[in-house]
Amino acid sequence: MNSIFKNPKIDPTAINRLHPVANDNNPQLYIETYGCQMNVNDSEVVISLMQKNGYSYTEDINKADVILVNTCSIRDNAEQRVWGRLQQFKALKKKKKNLLVGVIGCMAERLKEKLLEEDKLVDIVIGPDAYRDLPNLVKEAELGNQGINVLLSREETYAEISPVRLDKNGVSAFVSIMRGCNNMCSYCVVPYTRGGERSRDAKSILDEVQELIDNNYKEVTLLGQNVDSYNWVDPKNEKHKTTFADLLEQVAKLSPTLRVRFATSHPKDMNDDVLHVMAMYSNICNSIHLPAQSGSSAMLEKMNRGYDREWYLGRIAAIKKILPDCAISTDIIAGFCGETEEDHKQTLSLMEEVGYDMAFMFKYSERPNTKAARKFTDDVSEEEKTRRLNEIIDLQNKISAECKSNDIGQTFEVLVEGVSKRSEDDLFGRTSQNKVVVFPRMNYNIGDYVFVKIVSNTSATLIGEIAE
Ligand code: 5AD
Ligand code: SF4
Repeated sequence: MNSIFKNPKIDPTAINRLHPVANDNNPQLYIETYGCQMNVNDSEVVISLMQKNGYSYTEDINKADVILVNTCSIRDNAEQRVWGRLQQFKALKKKKKNLLVGVIGCMAERLKEKLLEEDKLVDIVIGPDAYRDLPNLVKEAELGNQGINVLLSREETYAEISPVRLDKNGVSAFVSIMRGCNNMCSYCVVPYTRGGERSRDAKSILDEVQELIDNNYKEVTLLGQNVDSYNWVDPKNEKHKTTFADLLEQVAKLSPTLRVRFATSHPKDMNDDVLHVMAMYSNICNSIHLPAQSGSSAMLEKMNRGYDREWYLGRIAAIKKILPDCAISTDIIAGFCGETEEDHKQTLSLMEEVGYDMAFMFKYSERPNTKAARKFTDDVSEEEKTRRLNEIIDLQNKISAECKSNDIGQTFEVLVEGVSKRSEDDLFGRTSQNKVVVFPRMNYNIGDYVFVKIVSNTSATLIGEIAE
């Protein structure tokens, strides 16, 4: 039996309270999510808002009365995929006359009315700060009126909305702690699609995490574009401020058996206070995602990242000193405007020097209206971007393989997330360092903590056995 309900510690009714409530008599909402973890969490907020307005969530697109696609604009290929999906939805609309299609999220914000231009393609367009208006616009669309709301807000954090959890396992959940971004990296569309940065009321975050604990969740990931600049100022007492280090500590203290993760850190803002809090609480996971983007100081300057190579390496040295067992991951962009072969080599050397456990690696994709699009020329050819990206990927594969083989023989505490796709007899979970481990199921259940000794690895996972 795969059921989490086998675990006597988990009360199934409690889990259902946070999960989508099926009711076939209600109009059915289907939602497809692209892009970052923040978008996944936004979809959960949207389902919550729609459920309160009489809609039920369905995972079956054929049952849908309303299809929403939560979109990403970060690279052109992310947008192209959505355009392709919209054409497929158009075919469904022909078969089911009253079917409504809405585009929400970053692409809605970036393209606005343009999404409504093609006849019978899209009925509703809503940006990331306007989800509260969704039920109204859906009602209007049911009457045949197209609707759009792409207003950005300086305050909206959806603080009091309890997201309906889309994760299947009832073990790990995302919790947004802030929205928007003030950094203005020259290549990035996010400040335009998600607006300015605002922090969410610390108490509402702690309440949400407590609710997850009460419902037997074992892991939360605190989300923000730049968690290190989280700063909640209590409007009733402006002297009462909560920094990210404070918040992390308060969340970690809620329960020693709750794992706490966070993303994304920014090298210019990640301070030692955060690292010391991580060192103090064993339930804060030893894993930091610290996007470098490039190893060349000249490129970093042009990217407006607010740090140079030396500063970045200084932050890495601080992590290694304060948290010797911490895994470090990163994002890298290949072929930014004016990137020379020498700049590219500096990225490769940075990757070797740091020894990343994992990396997300991308070709630069020009985004309309960003500073890079307005001021610089996208002058690295497609072939050259591909070559550089492949070199970066090959190097990272080599480094990741080394990191994995270093784990062999070591024992890690693993939080069980599910049954292995390859075999019913195996479970999988993650180490504190966010590495996936597959190991024999025995009598363990989803949501358990298990000590596992690593015996071998594949390219993607560690293979282990139960430690004595
Ligand atoms: N082109 C390629 N990659 C980008 N990213 C952000 N903007 C772009 C772009 N225009 C990458 C960065 C960021 C990650 C989420 O996406 O590496 O950290
Ligand atoms: Fe997330 Fe950025 Fe994509 Fe928007 S553009 S969905 S913020 S990754």
